[in-house]
Amino acid sequence: MNALSSVSKETSVLRDYFHGSKVLITGGFGFVGSNMAKTLIEFGADITLLDLRTGEDVGSLINTLGLRDKVRIVQGDVGDLTLVRQLVHESGFRFIFNFAAYATVIEKAVEAPYDTVMANTMGWVNVMEAARTAPVKAEVVFLSSTDKVYGEMDGHAYQEDTTPLRGIGVYDAAKLAADVLGKTYFEVFGLPTVVLRMCNLFGPGDFNTEYRLIPKAMRNLLASDTPVAPELYFDSIDHQRDYLYIEDAVRAILLLAYHKGCRGDVFNLRAAKYTTTPHLLKTLVHIAADVEREHDPRRAEQIIHNGITIKVRETESKVITIKNQHLDGSKLTLATGFEPAVEFEEGLRRTVEAYRMYFQSLRIAS
Ligand SMILES: NC(=O)c1ccc[n+]([C@@H]2O[C@H](COP(=O)([O-])OP(=O)(O)OC[C@H]3O[C@@H](n4cnc5c(N)ncnc54)[C@H](O)[C@@H]3O)[C@@H](O)[C@H]2O)c1
Repeated sequence: MNALSSVSKETSVLRDYFHGSKVLITGGFGFVGSNMAKTLIEFGADITLLDLRTGEDVGSLINTLGLRDKVRIVQGDVGDLTLVRQLVHESGFRFIFNFAAYATVIEKAVEAPYDTVMANTMGWVNVMEAARTAPVKAEVVFLSSTDKVYGEMDGHAYQEDTTPLRGIGVYDAAKLAADVLGKTYFEVFGLPTVVLRMCNLFGPGDFNTEYRLIPKAMRNLLASDTPVAPELYFDSIDHQRDYLYIEDAVRAILLLAYHKGCRGDVFNLRAAKYTTTPHLLKTLVHIAADVEREHDPRRAEQIIHNGITIKVRETESKVITIKNQHLDGSKLTLATGFEPAVEFEEGLRRTVEAYRMYFQSLRIAS
């Protein structure tokens, strides 16, 4: 069976499984949460989104794709146990996916360590507490963890059950605590938690254009009349990271929720590409120029001519950066059959096309 037909078979199994199910997505206006919502709406699930920011002006697929009337929206803080408990107890969710987090970038976590721990660790504890004491028991309580829980890499790849967890940055440690507590709630209380340590995701719907590498590069290349070169910090010139297209990440999460044998366990997310940050940005520049050439050849040449800019950080940073991050994704593949279906370059092309349309619509509107 070729990859495409196996993905379409998988999609129809997942559609049947989630159709009509009550689902809670925390952080549902964010990048991953809104992409999950989009797919689960297509599958006919009964979706509630909990988020701090739920306004019509919030940059989110929920707004840009006109999905507000297809979901129930609850504005609130996962750090508020009373609210989370009431919502979970009253609603009887079958699946709970927790994406709410102070997650823009690690720089933001350093500026607000207390808020980071409250949202990223205690928010998850609140979700688990609410699910543990709920009259109707959820089948899956999912946490989006991160490869950053492992800290600096010693060998060739991080492995779930043998690599020590040594994340020490503020964001990394807050996620690490949540990640470990997920296992605790399964072992001690039998709560069906599933934890996924995710790599860098990219694709349409990431509106964190101020800070995150790919959305920020997209903004530089596409937001204004004259393209600006994407920026690379000098201290990240030799960094290597894993990258995966968002649709594949959503598939992996849904497959984990579907496979009952995955409950109570921790998985790494398999990437489509492990590469250096300069290579990522150079590939992005070439693909952006390629896409632009069909519309405006002069602008395409300008993008190529600009290339990328290497910048030195102006202030001394308290951010602890990890040089190399690479996840061994074989445990996830063995448990669910998951393999990335969208190649890295194809994912970048789709990303460029989506941002191009988005920024163009903003320019037309202004
Ligand atoms: N995007 C990635 O590449 C990536 C990689 C690894 C792990 N993750 C994890 O995946 C999750 C989602 O990330 P994302 O990229 O969608 O981030 P995001 O910043 O786009 O979305 C997070 C959402 O959570 C909401 N939120 C923040 N604090 C909240 C609170 N206290 N109560 C309720 N809502 C709150 C925000 O308003 C936002 O809509 C996070 O837990 C993050 O740690 C993301």
